[in-house]
Amino acid sequence: MPGRETFQDELVTIRDWLRYAVSRFNAAGLVYGHGTANALDEAAYLVLHTLHLPIDQLDPWLEARLLASERDAVREMIETRITTRKPAPYLTNEAWIRGHSFYVDERVIVPRSYIGELLCRQMESAGNEWHLGFDPGPIAAALDLCTGSGCLAILAALTFPDAAVDASDISEGALAVAERNVRDYGLQERITLVQSDLFAAHAGRRYDLILANPPYVGAEALAAFPPEYAAEPPIAHAGGADGLDLVRRILAEAGDHLSPTGALVVEIGQGRNVLEQQFPHLPFLWLETAESDGEVFALEAAALHNNERG
Ligand SMILES: C[S@@+](CC[C@H](N)C(=O)[O-])C[C@H]1O[C@@H](n2cnc3c(N)ncnc32)[C@H](O)[C@@H]1O
Repeated sequence: MPGRETFQDELVTIRDWLRYAVSRFNAAGLVYGHGTANALDEAAYLVLHTLHLPIDQLDPWLEARLLASERDAVREMIETRITTRKPAPYLTNEAWIRGHSFYVDERVIVPRSYIGELLCRQMESAGNEWHLGFDPGPIAAALDLCTGSGCLAILAALTFPDAAVDASDISEGALAVAERNVRDYGLQERITLVQSDLFAAHAGRRYDLILANPPYVGAEALAAFPPEYAAEPPIAHAGGADGLDLVRRILAEAGDHLSPTGALVVEIGQGRNVLEQQFPHLPFLWLETAESDGEVFALEAAALHNNERG
């Protein structure tokens, strides 16, 4: 690796540092998918974040020259990303879903749920269009199972300003992160966090909307994870042999926790075919997002009540 002096002499502008970061990232074979999809976007995010510049604007700064201290900071960030192979949000302690930022550390999976996009679209449409499958009417009570950083619970609270939101997770560490995010958004009065193995702590409660982005990675895929994904808590990914253990438990129990017109929205990854074979009587409605098709389903309460009886 070149010495510090070479960097000072030869890498002068932000454009220079971006080019250098992309070359190094490519050579190191980094894997993306935690907020960015390629080396250039990852480099831009890390460089802008390190320089305390807005992360959505690169052009104004491309020819800007860096102070020696800034070059040191950028160089260190690039090195850390390569040597640790941690996803960028663990290095910056922030993750973004459509303009909403969340504190993250290694106690939680990096937020990237497709349900986040659906909630934001719902929020942006100001209730004129229903983006979460079925319109259950006014949402007075919502539940976010497997809340992790609390990102979906927070987006649900912002989307449905009249709703009380319960959010639970089995992981104490995740709940501590969620608590920080709920506080950062000033939503302590509206979001109740509770430790729970799926519905266990929600006995006797019914909700107009239940959201879940449970662990859904199968054992084989889990074993083949690249370092960036292996850096996340295994409990956030591990869904049993075919990845659908928790999804099946949610399907079995959700009917007991939905109001009569309520809806269940679950992200399941690649398990659509398996699920449709195992539950042929369930009328899954598959929701599309910008980057997914057939990875999130919605079900009405009535269908789940039939499921219980069947
Ligand atoms: C895929 S992450 C989703 C986190 C967050 N909702 C998001 O979208 O970023 C799954 C979460 O489920 C939690 N979890 C795993 N098993 C659980 C269980 N049996 N009951 C409740 N939560 C569980 C994990 O701790 C993890 O935070």
